[in-house]
Amino acid sequence: MTILNINNVVAGYKTANVLQGVSITLSESEIVSVVGRNGVGKSTLVKTIIGLLPARSGQIIFNEKDITSTKANNRAKSGIGYVPQGRGIFPDLTVQDNLRMGGLIGTKQKKLNFDSVFSYFPILKERLHQRGGTLSGGQQEMLAIARALINKPKLLLLDEPSDGVQPSIVEEIGKFLLKLKDTGEITVLLVEQNFDLLQTVSDRAYAMEKGTVSDTLTKEDLNNDETLAAYIAV
Ligand SMILES: Nc1ncnc2c1ncn2[C@@H]1O[C@H](COP(=O)(O)OP(=O)(O)OP(=O)(O)O)[C@@H](O)[C@H]1O
Ligand SMILES: [Mg+2]
Repeated sequence: MTILNINNVVAGYKTANVLQGVSITLSESEIVSVVGRNGVGKSTLVKTIIGLLPARSGQIIFNEKDITSTKANNRAKSGIGYVPQGRGIFPDLTVQDNLRMGGLIGTKQKKLNFDSVFSYFPILKERLHQRGGTLSGGQQEMLAIARALINKPKLLLLDEPSDGVQPSIVEEIGKFLLKLKDTGEITVLLVEQNFDLLQTVSDRAYAMEKGTVSDTLTKEDLNNDETLAAYIAV
């Protein structure tokens, strides 16, 4: 079943449109990646899906509902989790309070899903009372992912989780995504430039160029380093 359908979306900033009519479709429990060089509009796409930027035309259908004009907080409540590029954790709050903040943004459920996020990222339980800003880059990324996950989203938007993260933790994030996929309960849209992570977890990918989807890549395409490099290398 289709969980997300982006149809001919135009969006951008005051200065100009960045997305020039983007269409993508995600089926339930897939991990679909978005690749493309710097500045092609990958983050703009993700921000438009979560509703931080308005779609100026086109439609966004999530879980069979048209959410094109729905506010970002209501999109989060309806089951979309967002992990921004650069993580956006609260450096002065403890790990626990960062996770509680995630709970405030998302669903109305009172009992947050702490046990589940600790089972994926046990280090966060160990660091529960430490301030977010004192964690390593990789641990901060895990915290940002956990903050989104604590609401049990149906769709997780991950914007370059490997950015500024040491290789061992990139690998850990890859394993986490595969475990998450195994639950069959969540769909992931992953913006990434890291070959290993892309090749480990993606079922397929969309390639972007100048604000449009320029190509679609199969798992086989992704696993070919030369093919993949053509869509990523700067
Ligand atoms: N807040 C903003 N105001 C105006 N223009 C912006 C803003 N943020 C991004 N842009 C511009 O929009 C275009 C697309 O940016 P976007 O961040 O979506 O690219 P990206 O593909 O995510 O790049 P990267 O790989 O570097 O993260 C770029 O030309 C960028 O300069
Ligand atoms: Mg980006």
